[in-house]
Amino acid sequence: MTAGAYSIPEVQRLLATLVASKPGGRIAEIGTSYGDGAQAIAAALQEGASFVTVELDPERAAHARAALAGTAAEVLEGDWRELLPQRGPFDVVFADGGVAYDLVADLPSRPGWDPRQGRPDARRPGRGRRDP
Ligand SMILES: C[S@@+](CC[C@H](N)C(=O)[O-])C[C@H]1O[C@@H](n2cnc3c(N)ncnc32)[C@H](O)[C@@H]1O
Repeated sequence: MTAGAYSIPEVQRLLATLVASKPGGRIAEIGTSYGDGAQAIAAALQEGASFVTVELDPERAAHARAALAGTAAEVLEGDWRELLPQRGPFDVVFADGGVAYDLVADLPSRPGWDPRQGRPDARRPGRGRRDP
């Protein structure tokens, strides 16, 4: 949950708790915006954990990259649907922008999956389908 372009403090604390429970975890964020949520995630990363965050807007991505310099966060500029599937699977995904939530649900389990194809998933009916 966000307030405009920024996640609220309660969400950031929840994110930090989840991330802190994942030593060696693979963490992703969809919608970096200016990097507020990413700061909370980066600060909570445990040993061996990785974190990639994706922002569509170039100006926001550049701002976030500067704000997160010196942390373990990797800021990518572009559409998550093109950039994240090949980086998965993930242990935690903070889906916070430009998402169809049934598509995001496949990121943890399907490395290389292409959400633009909208393929149905036999294991979990309804997953991988684009909303009309
Ligand atoms: C609510 S803001 C994110 C706030 C941020 N997560 C935080 O914790 O402060 C949503 C962001 O998602 C970005 N966005 C929208 N569609 C996207 C897409 N397809 N891929 C990546 N980012 C996208 C928007 O540009 C916007 O900056």
